[in-house]
Amino acid sequence: MKTVRLDKFLSVNTKYSRSEIKKLVKAGKVTVDGVAAKDYDIHISAANSEITVNSQKIEYKKYVYLIMNKPAGILSACNDKSRKTVVDLVGEEYKHFSLFPVGRLDKDTTGILLLTNDGEFAHKVISPKSNIEKSYIATVDDVPPKDLPQRFKEGIVLADGTVCKSAKAEILKDNKVRIVLTEGKYHQIKRMLGVVGLGVNALHRERIGKITLPENLLPGECVELFDKEICTFFP
Ligand code: URA
Repeated sequence: MKTVRLDKFLSVNTKYSRSEIKKLVKAGKVTVDGVAAKDYDIHISAANSEITVNSQKIEYKKYVYLIMNKPAGILSACNDKSRKTVVDLVGEEYKHFSLFPVGRLDKDTTGILLLTNDGEFAHKVISPKSNIEKSYIATVDDVPPKDLPQRFKEGIVLADGTVCKSAKAEILKDNKVRIVLTEGKYHQIKRMLGVVGLGVNALHRERIGKITLPENLLPGECVELFDKEICTFFP
């Protein structure tokens, strides 16, 4: 059974700040299974304990949706024997949610990554049928050919014969290219750029659907998405 610290549970499932929660516990306003909690750092069963604050029952949040600014060098996976994963970077208060990354970014790719425990949502965001845009900035190792946007629009055929969906490409300055995909094949951007003779020095994802990586979110940090923002994925 997964347990979580009472204050962390309340910070995710209520509107109260950490300091307000501590005050509420101290004042005996928080109960766990009918008994006033003695301390804010006790562990509770997130799914089974009945928690009240000011006599109001706190509903357990079933699904959570986080935006992470993925740093380079971290694996897009839930766990790994020896290497650090994106799930290892998630704050303690979200650990009991069994989060997983929505799709994968390569270890060296940076930028926006969603984490959730909602499999149906993840499937819809990833599925090419949903046509949800994923926008990347690639820094390439040579000057991009002028016809790159046209070739990407027509649909690139990868070296192994795999046909990619039509993609948007925009040549920016300093050997950077903005590429917008609505699918996510293995190493897709690197392989697509490889077809036009370009290597990738750096790759950053800036947007998924209407959600742009918040400017103030530092590498490794997460911020929670709420219902209104989640709805923007599937209008
Ligand atoms: N395409 C890639 O090549 N790598 C990524 O991480 C994402 C898209």
